[in-house]
Amino acid sequence: MDTGKSGLNRALSVLGVSAGLGVGAGAAVIGHGLAELRRFTLHTVELPVLQPGTLARAGREDEGFFTVLHLSDLHMIPGQRAKQQWVQSLAECEPDLVVNTGDNLSDAHAVPEVLRALDPLLNTPGLFVFGTNDYFGPSPVNPANYLLGKKRKARGVELPWKGMRAAFVERGWRDCTHQRHEFSANGLRVAAAGVDDPHHNYDDYGSIAGAPNAQADISIGLTHSPEPRVLERFEADGYQLTLSGHTHGGQLCLPRVRVPWPGNSRFSSDSRVSDVLAHASVPEEIPNRWGSGVAGSLSAAQPTGHALVTNCGIDAARVSGMHRFGALWMHVSNGLGTSKFVPQRIMSKPSATRILLTETPRVSGA
Ligand SMILES: [Fe+2]
Repeated sequence: MDTGKSGLNRALSVLGVSAGLGVGAGAAVIGHGLAELRRFTLHTVELPVLQPGTLARAGREDEGFFTVLHLSDLHMIPGQRAKQQWVQSLAECEPDLVVNTGDNLSDAHAVPEVLRALDPLLNTPGLFVFGTNDYFGPSPVNPANYLLGKKRKARGVELPWKGMRAAFVERGWRDCTHQRHEFSANGLRVAAAGVDDPHHNYDDYGSIAGAPNAQADISIGLTHSPEPRVLERFEADGYQLTLSGHTHGGQLCLPRVRVPWPGNSRFSSDSRVSDVLAHASVPEEIPNRWGSGVAGSLSAAQPTGHALVTNCGIDAARVSGMHRFGALWMHVSNGLGTSKFVPQRIMSKPSATRILLTETPRVSGA
């Protein structure tokens, strides 16, 4: 016979089991999120934007592409040796150009370790802009505000960004913060410009406004945060490509149903740098992979989970990877770190991206 006391005991035991399962599931998610911080990934994306004949002029027909290595959001904390070693290994890509879109720091004492991680890449022509996390130390965040998309004020102790900037410039990287640059990188003629972090309204596009040099092979705009108002200006001025970070790919994502995209299977997003390089005979496949209409076709190139927020004005569908923004190509990096107060990544692996610039297919009969 069921007494009131035994019914209460059963209810309490069900509640206890449920609570235990909830705590267990929560611990599993947190454990996964911590483990994901070290699952560094190299993405590879092909972008056929060069005029036919560019590779021949530069003596690069054999390679078939120029490589732009895009890094962002290192958020370095002293002692992150695995991250430093992985970033150092990216030099194996032998990039023609390195682009760093900011948020290198998450600690006032991390500049030496950022420079150690980037050291082999600082021998390559490079471009950079900073994010507010280069200027100010991190502060605790309310996760609810993050998920609600509430913007935090830039605050905290000032970080030693000036010394980091000086070290980058001394090694030959070009600061694109409100500056325009024209130069040649391994035969690729580059026109580039950038703005300071628009997420906190530090941007002054007017100081770099105007069309890029029409003689350039590639024109690149840099903005730490992919704010639409800045992308619109780059597009209106005729830039071909913008590079950004900031979103961390959504950082805390939900599962999504993955739609296979032919051509993305060749380079596993989980590949180690050396694995990717071992399969790098790409150019002859580009016409088949891209066809003639390329708009939007790269959107599956940097898989993440379903982003809940982008932490900026861009929509969740363009939280990471290569996408169209009108006539512009925009690439958003997942980044390689997180704020030290939110050391979690879920379905948004830390990553860098190798962008292979190739020639547009010749029009038949031309
Ligand atoms: Fe960041």
